[in-house]
Amino acid sequence: MSTPIEVTTTVKVAVPKVAAAKAPAAPKDEITLIANKWKKKRGSLIMALHDLQGRLGFVPRESAMKLGRAMDVPLARIYEVVTFYNYFKTEAPGKYIISVCTGTACHIKGSKDLLAGLEKELKIHEGESTLDKEYHLQGVRCLGCCGLAPLASVNGKVYGKLNTMDACYVIERIQQDRPMVAAQEEEAVAE
Ligand code: FES
Repeated sequence: MSTPIEVTTTVKVAVPKVAAAKAPAAPKDEITLIANKWKKKRGSLIMALHDLQGRLGFVPRESAMKLGRAMDVPLARIYEVVTFYNYFKTEAPGKYIISVCTGTACHIKGSKDLLAGLEKELKIHEGESTLDKEYHLQGVRCLGCCGLAPLASVNGKVYGKLNTMDACYVIERIQQDRPMVAAQEEEAVAE
């Protein structure tokens, strides 16, 4: 089984060190990254909001405000779009939002199996939340860390190089409230 590693979208890779060295320098501000990516493209606002929700699971007001400033779009216009399309959520659909990347690189590396494993583990389908609203599971497009495929993010933290077996591992770490990096360090000490 490959070793799961945790990075944030600011690309803080704990292990292995080789991956850290290869990881691209991450922008400090994710909103700026999204704004720069979509600002000059056609239909940019919808795509930027799609990107934002893909990373966070919903569109928090604070993020919408920051995005509006970064893209020079009034907040009212952003809410026009967000409230028009049912797809967009303005409230967190679960305490833990698990996003499995279904982009090409992750798909080739088995993200379908990973998603299926999480669906089985949580007893929900993609796009649903558990009854207690503890977990929300969703498939998302490329999160921009293809070198770590297949990957999933939990509330914005990316768990890379996962496989089908890691579905349980991710849930276990969330339930124990143990960050992936700390858990790995403990295991390394125990070896
Ligand atoms: S395809 Fe999954 S991060 Fe790019």
